[in-house]
Amino acid sequence: MQFEGSRKTLPERRHNESDRLYELACQFMPGGVNSTLRNVLPHLVITRTAGARITDADGNEYIDYQGAFGPPLLGHNHPEVNRRVTEALERSLLPGVGVTPLEIELAQKIQRHVPSAQKVLFSNSGSEATFHALRVARAFTGRRKILKFQGCYHGFHDAVLTNILSPVEKIGHPDPHSAGMLPEVMAQTLVCAFNSLDDVEQALRAHKREVAAIIVEPVAHNMGCVLPKPGFLEGLRQLATAHGTVLIFDEVITGFRHHLGGYQAICGVKPDLTTLGKAIANGFPLAVVCGKAEIMDHFTTRPGGDAYFAGTFNGNAMSMAAALATIDVLEREPVHRHIFALGERMRRGLQEIRQRLDLRATVAGFGSIFLTYFMEGPIESYSDVVRNDAARFVEYRRRLMARGIFKIPLNLKRNHIGYAHREADIDRTLEACERVLKEMTAAPQTSAGGV
Ligand SMILES: Cc1ncc(COP(=O)(O)O)c(C=O)c1O
Repeated sequence: MQFEGSRKTLPERRHNESDRLYELACQFMPGGVNSTLRNVLPHLVITRTAGARITDADGNEYIDYQGAFGPPLLGHNHPEVNRRVTEALERSLLPGVGVTPLEIELAQKIQRHVPSAQKVLFSNSGSEATFHALRVARAFTGRRKILKFQGCYHGFHDAVLTNILSPVEKIGHPDPHSAGMLPEVMAQTLVCAFNSLDDVEQALRAHKREVAAIIVEPVAHNMGCVLPKPGFLEGLRQLATAHGTVLIFDEVITGFRHHLGGYQAICGVKPDLTTLGKAIANGFPLAVVCGKAEIMDHFTTRPGGDAYFAGTFNGNAMSMAAALATIDVLEREPVHRHIFALGERMRRGLQEIRQRLDLRATVAGFGSIFLTYFMEGPIESYSDVVRNDAARFVEYRRRLMARGIFKIPLNLKRNHIGYAHREADIDRTLEACERVLKEMTAAPQTSAGGV
């Protein structure tokens, strides 16, 4: 659990009702929340989400840049998405046998938009999608090992839940993120430095014909925003091909957010398999594993396949309709132009503030994603982001919360802009950021992580 710092000096906003309900939640749920990183201070009980805003149980409204870690790309409760879901539910939710026209339509759309998607399957969460992608890569290659990158996150299963936001002394060593993980599984996971092709080449050479898959976030958003250096993704493609290894782009964050075709449509590198999630159904639960037909055809959804694939809720009408509606809006309206322009405005504004206040900080981001690291660059791998001043990073965000701006107060987390944000939101946010940064410069921090 991540309780960072103390909430004792938060000004202006009352949290009495959130506190009361949170205590009630704790009586029934371990830690009172249903996903680890939701347990932040001050405790939040959210009673309403709408567009670019969230409101808590005390009536405090926030401009939301957390965006539930990425899904509401079009904004919370998008009316068209919700309407299409309701209409679909009037016909059918989950026949659980055969296939529905909605599944066929969505698979076709994904195939049309995502360059690597020759065939497509649906599940409900990003963790399921990466689990299936890795398993089918093993089935396809007959190999055991997988290669991931330090600082990247691909879900909660044993093969990948290691070496995420590791303490500095764990870089270069196994760093399981949970008790109860099987050492036998982790022993098959190799960890390399993001943006280091040398590292990857060495690992592939040392484990010749043993590595089934390389899995990578094409933009490393689980450490904020670490962009691939020119040539890195191309180099991974070449190395994977040369070593008979399946290349998996985990586009659970980047898919639809940066482009309808995922980041692969921007960088021009085609992986063998792709996973999508989060933003693709604008908040409804949906994930995709897609890729080369010769690999995808190993799944047991095809008679004769050998890589087991199943899920009671897979392909349910709610998620299908939500994704189809999301795609329609993305195809029809200038969503990416809008969110990229706002992202640019935010980053430019933050950069100017950084210069005016002469801060040791780096403004980073891509498209609709932004964040300020409290450190100087360059930022190319996890070994760089460990220099971020976590206490200041969290303090900054706590102080912004007290002014109605919500960026989750956890180290290294990125912020998301959606189609519902407006220029006025960005400008109000920049004003608040400058005020808070001035306060923090005037009064050095008092406690690790606290305000
Ligand atoms: C890149 C990436 N892959 C996979 C996952 C797992 O997705 P989920 O939380 O839907 O299981 C996440 C979640 O944050 C992610 O960021």
